[in-house]
Amino acid sequence: MSRRRMIYEGKAKILYEGPEPGTLIQYFKDDATAFNAQKRGTISGKGVLNNRISEHIFTLLGTIGIPTHFLRRLNMREQLIRQVEIVPIEVVVRNVAAGSLSTRLGIEEGTQLPRTIIEYYYKDDALGDPMIADEHIACFGWASQEEMNDIADMAIRINDFLCGLFAGIGVRLVDFKLEFGRLWENEYSRVILADEISPDGCRLWDMSSGEKLDKDRFRRDLGGEAEAYQEVARRLGLLKEGEANMVLDLDSHRKMRGK
Ligand code: TMP
Ligand code: ASP
Repeated sequence: MSRRRMIYEGKAKILYEGPEPGTLIQYFKDDATAFNAQKRGTISGKGVLNNRISEHIFTLLGTIGIPTHFLRRLNMREQLIRQVEIVPIEVVVRNVAAGSLSTRLGIEEGTQLPRTIIEYYYKDDALGDPMIADEHIACFGWASQEEMNDIADMAIRINDFLCGLFAGIGVRLVDFKLEFGRLWENEYSRVILADEISPDGCRLWDMSSGEKLDKDRFRRDLGGEAEAYQEVARRLGLLKEGEANMVLDLDSHRKMRGK
């Protein structure tokens, strides 16, 4: 088998050259990092689950008219995507106070926000992805005003859709991070949703127990991260019978750990 050309290796994914021009293969690793990679580990099976979860969510978003880079899933850990020029901005959408918002502003985690907040962070590991305002984006030309309008519109529509999707499976969508990319057609470009949507970049809390079903389990050393990701996949209907049987019931797992 000939080795594929690697285009980029990130903390949780690898991009390889795709089979046709304008395509890439996105490979999902089990590696997990937090706090700008100061904390590193692996979550066994995470790549497989995130590949499936992201495929499912991007496909659903496609059906409501959100343009995305997703083309099709290739295998357990890989999907075919459109090659885009990533806009160097991480878009965070928040419905409930948690994480850095709670720390920065002293708002208790779990406080329902009276309105949805969209925040922007400059995608630069060396700088630790600093929070930025629209003014910085315009000043430094990271995206045009038209692109930012499209990004904000899409972020709101994605949030509305995902809040409903997760509510339907008993999960509270606290916050999540999105990335967008430019798709060039001749001299014109448009922004489309890129990267992934998975428990790596979302806060997902069980609606009745408040249990965290996302990467905060890893960030905060809570344990049970693989089981939490499996639970999200299971509730989304993505694990086959045999696979679902292998999923540890969260309650019995908690009991096993004596919590
Ligand atoms: P924060 O509260 O730490 O700012 O995170 C907000 C959301 O963004 C949370 O769902 C996790 C996600 N996120 C990422 O996906 N990547 C990151 O590098 C950070 C800091 C947060
Ligand atoms: N993935 C990010 C990092 O390692 C941080 C996070 O998700 O908390 O830098």
